[in-house]
Amino acid sequence: MNITTRMSRPDESAIIHEVIDTARWGITLECVELVLSLDPQGYILGFDETGRALGVGFGLGFEQTGWLGHLVVRPETRGLGLGTRLFTELLEKLKQAGRWPIYLTATEMGAPLYAKFGFVLDGGLTRWEIPDGGRIKVDSSWAQHPDIQVTGITEADLPEIAAFDALRFGDDRGDLLASFYRLYPGDARLARRSDGELAGYVLGGTLGLGPFVAEADAAGPLFAEALTMPLEGRPRRTFTFMDANQLAQELCQKAGLISTRTWVRMILGEGCQPKDEQIFNMSVAHG
Ligand SMILES: CC(C)(COP(=O)(O)OP(=O)(O)OC[C@H]1O[C@@H](n2cnc3c(N)ncnc32)[C@H](O)[C@@H]1OP(=O)(O)O)[C@@H](O)C(=O)NCCC(=O)NCCS
Repeated sequence: MNITTRMSRPDESAIIHEVIDTARWGITLECVELVLSLDPQGYILGFDETGRALGVGFGLGFEQTGWLGHLVVRPETRGLGLGTRLFTELLEKLKQAGRWPIYLTATEMGAPLYAKFGFVLDGGLTRWEIPDGGRIKVDSSWAQHPDIQVTGITEADLPEIAAFDALRFGDDRGDLLASFYRLYPGDARLARRSDGELAGYVLGGTLGLGPFVAEADAAGPLFAEALTMPLEGRPRRTFTFMDANQLAQELCQKAGLISTRTWVRMILGEGCQPKDEQIFNMSVAHG
């Protein structure tokens, strides 16, 4: 098969989403649009001779690090080398742009492919969800803290949140956080201590919840808020975090959530030190 590849255009979210959806991950069109809003050429597409898109994937750069994700080849054309080709080209693009180290989260199917490029395991990730018909158990022993107050977020808080996040995520992803905030301003919360210091934040996201980063004292109050705030018909909340975050795991268990999926984070290179124990929700695609 004669395959051609090229980077995406801003108006291609629908076709990119159609290919991604063949993997049945539940990734929303909004999620694809979010990636394209950060970088209209962020996706690569592979086409056959008739112009049919057979595979896609994205490479996004924050200030230093690169992130690869959404690598999907249509089921009927897997095993023919397209996945390897798309991945090779995305990786090269990120390296050329000086992004380093490079991260990805891999499914069981994807991990062997990435290992061949030198990516090594960098911890496990688990998704936790409210079980069907299950009741959320919010308990004041962890949902409240005497020194923590949770409030809504305004545009004026974004620079402070970006700086707080960069110290914990390990890179500046302020544009991504601002995009999530602007998509779902009503779902955004921050936590401050009585002296006014920022102790954590949670944003709405394309899978019901966006980035959620907090220090230990603010984690419970923000988690309770994220579990109970109304979402106006959007998908129910899922929490996905590194298994290294034991507090997050304890909170999920106390609230009655169950683990439903796992991934591994893989890294190529060194130089970024995320504080996984303070990250309570991450997109498996872009941190
Ligand atoms: C992972 C994926 C993108 C690979 O695309 P592809 O075009 O099939 O990849 P390639 O033909 O270049 O093969 C690359 C590797 O994928 C794996 N692979 C390919 N076809 C496979 C199949 N049918 N079953 C299991 N693994 C397979 C093999 O490890 C292969 O390496 P090898 O050829 O040296 O044995 C594709 O299988 C896919 O879309 N899977 C579902 C979505 C997914 O899991 N994406 C990865 C997210 S991290």
